[in-house]
This record gives sequence, structure tokens and C-alpha cells, in this order.
Amino acid sequence: MKVAIIGATGNLGGAVAREAAARGHDITPLGSGNIDVTDPDSIKAAVTGHDAVVVSVKGSDRLVPRAAEALLEALPSAGVNRVIFLGGGGSLQSESGRPFVESPDFPAQYLETALDQSEALRIFRSSETPVEWSYASPPPVYLVPGDKTGAYLVEARDTPLANENGESRITIGDYASAIVDTLETGAFVRERFTAAATD
Ligand SMILES: NC(=O)c1ccc[n+]([C@@H]2O[C@H](COP(=O)([O-])OP(=O)(O)OC[C@H]3O[C@@H](n4cnc5c(N)ncnc54)[C@H](OP(=O)(O)O)[C@@H]3O)[C@@H](O)[C@H]2O)c1
Repeated sequence: MKVAIIGATGNLGGAVAREAAARGHDITPLGSGNIDVTDPDSIKAAVTGHDAVVVSVKGSDRLVPRAAEALLEALPSAGVNRVIFLGGGGSLQSESGRPFVESPDFPAQYLETALDQSEALRIFRSSETPVEWSYASPPPVYLVPGDKTGAYLVEARDTPLANENGESRITIGDYASAIVDTLETGAFVRERFTAAATD
């Protein structure tokens, strides 16, 4: 597949770019130096001619929800029908039935990002776009450095996946692999999905 990766200069986007390239995909790595993900014209110019777009961006001033809006505006006119948006885990629901981000002990340093990510999920879910979007949530807390092991599960759901000990975590290598799996299978269209290690 010919895949544009917006945020490939970043941590997770870089891991996805390496995994996709290792599997033989033709990737276009993009960062803030060559695209503005909040500008529909900039997106259209950069992604026209690709089969799919992966988006993994972070920034201030509501960058993430503004990126979601700009992508939904730009992709149909760019002729790109598939986007996987790397979102947050804070909008997954805890056992109380409420999103982790609404818990009083949610880490303050991640609060703004997590609220932005929740807003982006609402934007995708309320859109009537023809674009086949998927929104990826890592475990709410433990997306940890580490290589691909291949021992992970991926599902469309609104609660975290966990191993048999009830722990929800995944390495960046496995999370990137789950993203590329989803690109290849075309699964989770108009759904939020999450991934976690099985061991
Ligand atoms: N547990 C969780 O919920 C969790 C944990 C980790 C990450 N995440 C989410 O995963 C996503 C990626 O995180 P990360 O840690 O990989 O981020 P990161 O390393 O900070 O990378 C952010 C990327 O965004 C790009 N970017 C910033 N502004 C842009 C713009 N206006 N136009 C185009 N690209 C722009 C940056 O490009 P330059 O470097 O070229 O400026 C960079 O490639 C974020 O949305 C983050 O919230 C969630």
C-alpha cells in the first residue's frame, strides 16, 4: 500500500513508519516541516495519490481535534478513503463506566492531551463522512517502550483490553504492529479499537 504517515517524525508515528516499511509498504513520512495537519489544503496536497493515511500528531491549541476536522474535510477531495488516527487511551471506560480521563486521579500532565483526544473521537463518531476512519486507543496508562513481540490482541471496544492478570499494557513495537495490521486487514471501519499485550 502507498501510505502517508502524518507524524512520522514523532515517537509513535516513527514506529508505525518503520513497521510499515519493514512489511514492504511504500510510505511517505510527514512531519510539521512538510505538512500542516490542521490545514485541509496542506493535507490534500501531501496525501493525494495515497491509498491510506495514518495520523499520529500531538500539539497545543487543540491541535488534535483540529487535525480530525481538517482530515475529514480534506480526504474526500484528495481521493483518499482510509485514515487511521492514533488517539488516546483516556477516553476508554474504567470499571466505573466513566472514561479514565474523568477520574479525579487521572495524571494532570496528560489531562489536556487526553481531553483533546476525546474530542477528536467525538468528531469522528459524529461525522457522516464517506471516509473509512478508525481511531486507535492505546491502554490508558501503559504504552511502554519496547520492541514488537507479536503477543497482543486488538479489538473494537470502549474498555481497555487486559491480560489474564488484569493488566492493560503494550509495547510501542506491538502497538505499531497492531496499527499496520489494521491497515492491511481494513478492519475497524468507523470504529474505535484498542490493543494490549496478552502476557
Ligand atoms: N496513553 C495514551 O493515551 C497515549 C500515549 C502516547 C501517545 N498518545 C497519542 O499518540 C499520538 C502521538 O504521540 P507521540 O508521543 O508519538 O507524539 P510526538 O512524538 O510528540 O510526535 C508528534 C508528531 O506530530 C507532528 N506534528 C505536530 N504538529 C503538527 C502539524 N501542525 N502538522 C503536522 N504534524 C505535526 C510532529 O512533527 P514534527 O516532529 O516534525 O514537529 C511529530 O511528528 C498523540 O496524539 C498522543 O496523544 C497517547
